[in-house]
Amino acid sequence: MNPMLSEAAVLDALRQVNDPDLHRDIVALGFVKDVRIDGTKVSFTIELTTPACPVKDLLKAEAEGVVLAIGATQVDIEMTARVRTTDREQTPLIPGVKHCIAIASGKGGVGKSTVSVNLALALAQTGARVGLMDADVYGPSIPLMMGVQGEQPLTANNKILPIQRHGVALMSLGFLLQEGQAVLWRGPMVAGTVKQLLEDVLWDELDYLLVDLPPGTGDAPMSLAQLVPLTGVVLVTTPHHVAANIAGKSIQLFQRLNTPLLGVVENMAGYRCPNCGTVTRVFSGMTGEELAKQYGMPFLGSIPLDPEISQSSDQGEPALVAYPDSGYGLEFRAIAGRLAAEISVRSMA
Ligand SMILES: Nc1ncnc2c1ncn2[C@@H]1O[C@H](COP(=O)(O)OP(=O)(O)OP(=O)(O)O)[C@@H](O)[C@H]1O
Ligand SMILES: [Mg+2]
Repeated sequence: MNPMLSEAAVLDALRQVNDPDLHRDIVALGFVKDVRIDGTKVSFTIELTTPACPVKDLLKAEAEGVVLAIGATQVDIEMTARVRTTDREQTPLIPGVKHCIAIASGKGGVGKSTVSVNLALALAQTGARVGLMDADVYGPSIPLMMGVQGEQPLTANNKILPIQRHGVALMSLGFLLQEGQAVLWRGPMVAGTVKQLLEDVLWDELDYLLVDLPPGTGDAPMSLAQLVPLTGVVLVTTPHHVAANIAGKSIQLFQRLNTPLLGVVENMAGYRCPNCGTVTRVFSGMTGEELAKQYGMPFLGSIPLDPEISQSSDQGEPALVAYPDSGYGLEFRAIAGRLAAEISVRSMA
């Protein structure tokens, strides 16, 4: 046997491979498992912190390269993932959920629900276990967007079972209200309903539970943050709201609530011409990226205004399902990857 090809030599070589998000090498991070050496054939597993890791292919290629460089003739790498929870106290409310992430905005109509749906789908498509909870008690829109309006969730042992759609576990007050039924909400009722949607629903084991919030920083985000230890908030904004400083104000409010801010998604950032595909910025002034920078938070990406996105939502086929290969489809997946990476960074800290 080639004396260089010991497990120690392989691990030593792999120490050259750095995770660019976590700023440490993959051996120190404990990602390398099951190293097997058979002559000059080497196999091992790399267990990442999320299946949605945006640098998965890069890490695999680098790992293969450094092991070939010490004399291996064949390198078989299995890429797996185990999502770690943050060290924050686990909640008995939703014990199987590793990360609860709220999608918020300062004002209504910026595309929170659109972003929530497509990020949930993008994460689920990587193999992550994903739930989506519609906490917009004022206007639940997830059932319509996911094409499951009018469906009645089943119950088991006094718990409500989420509705599964496109690989995502869904729950919305919309499933529990009679069609056309209007509710006049008072603050404590909002808190009670948010609690019920968490507590009375049998959420499976989930890596990520995304929570689509109603607009603003009112009762729903407050009670959610009090009920469960949120991994953090994703703030959705539009160039118009950045310009009007509405986004900045809601960032400050979340900072005051001590809720971690995972990043900014800029929606309707420019108009994509359906004929020629060119994206034109409509509003001048500060961009979502500059806003994120100003408040020292990550910028996750931007989605253009595109009629396809609203049409597909209205028809109950989210953009990522109806047009998976579109430019915005790619961008939604990139945003999901950056979000997952940001969560990994925080869980490893
Ligand atoms: N990038 C986009 N391009 C085109 N239309 C969009 C885009 N994003 C959202 N929309 C459309 O804009 C409208 C508002 O979006 P959405 O319902 O996701 O916003 P919201 O922030 O959840 O609103 P609310 O505050 O009422 O809950 C919807 O009709 C949606 O289809
Ligand atoms: Mg909404």
